[in-house]
Amino acid sequence: MANKKTIAVVGATGAQGGGLVRAILGDPQGGFAVRAVTRDANSDKAKKLAQLGAEVVAADVDDVASLERAFNGAHGAFCVTFFWEHFSPEKELAEATNMAQAAKRAAIQHVIWSTLEDTRRWVPLSDDRMPTLKGKYKVPHFDAKGEADKVFTDLRLPVTILLTSFYWDNFIHFGMGPKKGPDGKLALTLPMEDKKLPAIAAEDIGRCAYGIFKRGHELIGKTIGISGEHLTGAQMAAAFSKALGEEVVYNAVPHAVYRSFGFPGADDLGNMFQFKCDFNEYFCGARNPETARALNPSLKSFADWLAENKSRIPLGE
Ligand SMILES: NC(=O)c1ccc[n+]([C@@H]2O[C@H](COP(=O)([O-])OP(=O)(O)OC[C@H]3O[C@@H](n4cnc5c(N)ncnc54)[C@H](OP(=O)(O)O)[C@@H]3O)[C@@H](O)[C@H]2O)c1
Repeated sequence: MANKKTIAVVGATGAQGGGLVRAILGDPQGGFAVRAVTRDANSDKAKKLAQLGAEVVAADVDDVASLERAFNGAHGAFCVTFFWEHFSPEKELAEATNMAQAAKRAAIQHVIWSTLEDTRRWVPLSDDRMPTLKGKYKVPHFDAKGEADKVFTDLRLPVTILLTSFYWDNFIHFGMGPKKGPDGKLALTLPMEDKKLPAIAAEDIGRCAYGIFKRGHELIGKTIGISGEHLTGAQMAAAFSKALGEEVVYNAVPHAVYRSFGFPGADDLGNMFQFKCDFNEYFCGARNPETARALNPSLKSFADWLAENKSRIPLGE
């Protein structure tokens, strides 16, 4: 234990961080120990991580001093923000800045920053192909993450920028799975035209992050884009049909229609899918399943993920 390198994991009770915590704990000979960062060390999820063997510490990404305490003495830090908790890109940028500053003060030797593109580099605010949202964003939950990349690099942190992908788990938790239409048929409604959607099992993001910490030095200063598989809506619908044993059709809705769906964040997600379609060659090219598999040999395909999770997908109206 004494010689192990400790990785402080923000979001340890969540999807990305949780995957990393379980990857480290699942490899006791790997040379790493894990410090799970949570706001509440007494929550059921935090206690479960402690039972599995994680050190659990309390910190809040809105409180830089608490982050510095949580990072002190650690070799590595996994940094992620939580857009959907507050829907505020400004807050996300401030939280990323807190993590970067805490990592600097704690002299962290390897930081992973979990990020997405600042889409305004491709779609400036003057481009009216999609509406500008929250005053100065095109895809609010992407843009501030991408903007924050510079915060980590400007501080000259030893950072690996980790470009993540759409979680297949959104089909369970985000209400994006196939739904029964008025004709009684299951339909997968996504505004992805006939383009490919890079996506991944959320757990695999953390597993890839573990692979990055293991590689260490050689990946500092690099941007690594990961995904599990790149599939079209029709290909995903076919995989759903096979896994569920019932036909699922792909319902390709226009981006503007998706933006008007009215649920919180529908406009943000409509713009996101449009960005992924309009810049599909770039977006798919920036994420590589082979890179992800080299970091994480147990990387799941969509069929693997469906086989494990199909019973958890709500198939309501
Ligand atoms: N859904 C997707 O397809 C997708 C794809 C790529 C990227 N992302 C991005 O992933 C990010 C979220 O990551 P995730 O899915 O791993 O999160 P998650 O599963 O929602 O977990 C969030 C965890 O973060 C912790 N947390 C929340 N607020 C905190 C705070 N103020 N200080 C410290 N910890 C806090 C909570 O832990 P405690 O309650 O224990 O403190 C919670 O368990 C979002 O920014 C999203 O944009 C999502």
